[in-house]
Amino acid sequence: MCGIVGCTGSEPVRDILISGLKRLEYRGYDSAGIAVQQPGSEKLTVVHRVGKVAGLESEVANQEILGTCGIGHTRWATHGRPSTANAHPHTSCAGDIAVVHNGIIENFAELREELIGRGHTFTSETDTEVLAHLIEEAYEGAPDGTGAAEATHDLLRAVRRAVRRVVGAYGIAVVCAQEPGVIVTTRKDSPIVVGRGETASYVASDIIALIDATRDVVVLEDGESAKLTPEGITYYNEAGAEIEPHVTHVDWDLDIAEKGGYPDFMLKEIHEQPRVVRDTLAGRMVGGELAIDELGLTYEELNLVDRVYVIACGTSYHAGLIAKNLIERWARIPTEVEAASEFRYRDPIITTSTLVVAVSQSGETADTLAAIRDARIKGAKVFGITNVIGSPVARESDGVIYTKANKEIAVASTKSFIGQVVSLTLLALSLAQAKGRLTTGQVRMLFSELGDTAEQIQWILDTQGPAIDEAAEAMKDAPSALFVGRGIASAICYEGALKLKEISYLHAEAYAAGEMKHGPIALIDPGFPVITVATQSPVYDKTVSNLKECEARGAKIIAVATEGDEDIKKIADHVIYVPRVRDCFTPITATVPLQLLARSVALLRGCDVDQPRNLAKSVTVE
Ligand code: AGP
Repeated sequence: MCGIVGCTGSEPVRDILISGLKRLEYRGYDSAGIAVQQPGSEKLTVVHRVGKVAGLESEVANQEILGTCGIGHTRWATHGRPSTANAHPHTSCAGDIAVVHNGIIENFAELREELIGRGHTFTSETDTEVLAHLIEEAYEGAPDGTGAAEATHDLLRAVRRAVRRVVGAYGIAVVCAQEPGVIVTTRKDSPIVVGRGETASYVASDIIALIDATRDVVVLEDGESAKLTPEGITYYNEAGAEIEPHVTHVDWDLDIAEKGGYPDFMLKEIHEQPRVVRDTLAGRMVGGELAIDELGLTYEELNLVDRVYVIACGTSYHAGLIAKNLIERWARIPTEVEAASEFRYRDPIITTSTLVVAVSQSGETADTLAAIRDARIKGAKVFGITNVIGSPVARESDGVIYTKANKEIAVASTKSFIGQVVSLTLLALSLAQAKGRLTTGQVRMLFSELGDTAEQIQWILDTQGPAIDEAAEAMKDAPSALFVGRGIASAICYEGALKLKEISYLHAEAYAAGEMKHGPIALIDPGFPVITVATQSPVYDKTVSNLKECEARGAKIIAVATEGDEDIKKIADHVIYVPRVRDCFTPITATVPLQLLARSVALLRGCDVDQPRNLAKSVTVE
């Protein structure tokens, strides 16, 4: 998630912008920059660079930047690698309009081509830069003279006209050298807050960046815009009519503000999962066809693949288990999932028609990197699925899909897992289409249902909290727990068990439900917690039979089940519902209750859910 700050007042803003960007540092970023109007001139001073805010601060400290109106940005790369050229703010051709942006522009490629066709010169690889040139055209016409007749020469109107061309999510702040003291901001699906200080007006992507100046903020609604001047702020609705703002008083302390009002990063990130689904799918279906060009492989090359290895660690390994199910189900290609730490030492059978998929949130896990290198030496094509642009996994793979989950701060992977599963589903669909196993129509239908999981996750977040907390209360003092499921649900159980043990320190194991009678059922005594994913599937009845064996021995059964399933209540002590989805998409919906259950148990056991003992966010050593 990128960070936006802006201020216009009577005092120089350089240091105000830098301190605002520092407030946003916790969100993670790889570059930063500011754009400040130069007093008495129709020019902007723009300084942006890869690296930390501290580096930007040192660079601007040596410059005479006295302007009293400016914007700043911290970037978490989603389009275009981390670099000074890709750092925001981005400017128009003439350099007199500067934009900072948070979000993803799905149609940026076609807009970029169109703008270049009218004479615009681009200096970055980012989606954001198209905004600077669209606003430039609306403000003063295009370099080739088109549009000059109806140019607005009004920044607010130019911004409102420009964003009408954009498909995707944006929160933006814009300054123009010809409009001293003015900042224009607007949003769609990406947060923007504004507020008045004593002598200045402020804009930010996050309340925490305003909190030093004011605790009375206005959170813009989608489609709304605002014009900030040193004297005040004017608000407009989507139609452009002036409106009265709804002011919110924020009494959060800094720690809560950093977490967006959530008590911990883990809960904040669980609640970001609907956004992760949408962002990871943004721009992935173009003209009715799957668009994952980063794969770096043609359909003809994909068609030659006769074996897939998915290599990963921890939660990413569990995403691999789901990928196996989908790739073999749709593409009928034999797929093996291996812990990278094992794969790298067992001299696997690899040929030039082997596809190795490396999954890693951080993109820097030592075992996964070593396995990639080993596979490439043996001649395999390697593809990375990672959350960090420019990470070692991304750099050392032949192709890479980014999970667009933004920075994940809690050690326990949640939203990045959902991003991985969505990305791996896209890969499975691509392989199936390349193999001629799925028609374009089937792929479109599955893609559409995949997109629906965003709302389905939201339904779970909105409605199942009480049931989850009751289940957590019932199991919090148990010495151990079993997670059981069949088919794709067993992979969800492995992830659920890992979540529980890594943040609550309550021992948990996951088993294919059919394995219970081959040993694990010996563990069951009265009150022993058995957590199951028993959603509607071809193996639902078999799962229920296994649960009855547990119930007969006094187990306390906690079931994740399909909304409307009343039968499950006959054997489960606690039922957590998820919306009905096609079996293949259950991992995206049914994992969410298990994330929340683990967190709830951990809190009841007094554990730190963001920083569990003994664990690190990325394991860069063997
Ligand atoms: C999962 O919650 C843990 N944080 C851990 O298992 C993690 O998934 C594993 O270390 C792999 O990390 P990576 O995805 O960054 O490679």
